[in-house]
Amino acid sequence: MRKIAWLLVALVIGMGGLHPGAVYAQKEADKRQLFREGARLWPVYCAQCHNARPGSEFAPYQWDQIMMHMRGLSNMPAENARAILEYLKGGRE
Ligand code: HEC
Repeated sequence: MRKIAWLLVALVIGMGGLHPGAVYAQKEADKRQLFREGARLWPVYCAQCHNARPGSEFAPYQWDQIMMHMRGLSNMPAENARAILEYLKGGRE
């Protein structure tokens, strides 16, 4: 058990120490992928009950709240909600 714990510590340190630039680039690539997925899903889900509202209509923190509500209404999987949220925020924080 102790050995496994040390192995995990070494792994975490190793990952953090390796190429911070590569980790950042991977995060950016994941975000772009989410954005593209969100752009595809946005009209599919969000135009079911009303006009699909554009991302520019609300600030990112407002979209966090609205998406919680709309996700519940539309019963969508968490992964899809995350993608649509990324799309609506459009790279804004
Ligand atoms: C199942 C139907 C349904 C789906 C699907 C749905 N909505 Fe809604 N939406 C509503 C209803 C009903 C209201 C107004 C009443 C309320 O707030 O509950 C609303 C209101 C809104 C508002 C207005 C909030 C405000 O304060 O003006 C926004 C923005 C919105 N929805 C965005 C979205 C987005 C983005 C999606 C896709 C992720 C979505 N909705 C999907 C039913 C839905």
